[in-house]
Amino acid sequence: MSIEYHPIGVVHSPFKDAEGTPIQPSRAQNVEGTVEVFAEYIDGLKDLEGFSHIILLGHLHQSKGYRLQVVPFLDTEHRGVFATRAPLRPNPIGLSIVKLCSIEKNRLQIEGIDFLDGTPILDIKPYVSEFDARAEARFGWLDLVRKQTQVADDRFKSSS
Ligand SMILES: C[S@@+](CC[C@H](N)C(=O)[O-])C[C@H]1O[C@@H](n2cnc3c(N)ncnc32)[C@H](O)[C@@H]1O
Repeated sequence: MSIEYHPIGVVHSPFKDAEGTPIQPSRAQNVEGTVEVFAEYIDGLKDLEGFSHIILLGHLHQSKGYRLQVVPFLDTEHRGVFATRAPLRPNPIGLSIVKLCSIEKNRLQIEGIDFLDGTPILDIKPYVSEFDARAEARFGWLDLVRKQTQVADDRFKSSS
């Protein structure tokens, strides 16, 4: 089965190369960007301005191929890709929770973006702590490591 999605918009961010890009929004707190929503989807933005944070689902378009085991940015050991947020995935979908600063027509001003410039956006959802935050969560291998990496290096440049 194959599934075809069409982007509803595109990210404009300061990052042209994966290397040097923050590894998560929590490492990109003052990084400003824009989501440009395509004209045919503007009506879907109604009522979004009341939310302080949004979930962006993006197609990590510069990911080439995938690896089932990766050494994550915050670790030195191989982990299963589905136990990481690494960009080289069978379906290279990125999920980033960013601050929504303002909406001007079809342009969403955001803060805390870790997507490259030009990343196609597949969907936007409001972040709702009641739905999305889990006080009792455990963090697997991340509980064991305390690396303070802020930005990506070139380890996910290709699948080889
Ligand atoms: C570790 S991923 C996390 C993305 C998202 N926050 C997530 O958890 O799904 C973030 C890294 O992916 C890479 N990246 C960001 N946008 C990309 C894109 N459009 N194509 C390929 N790689 C991208 C950059 O190296 C960035 O540091």
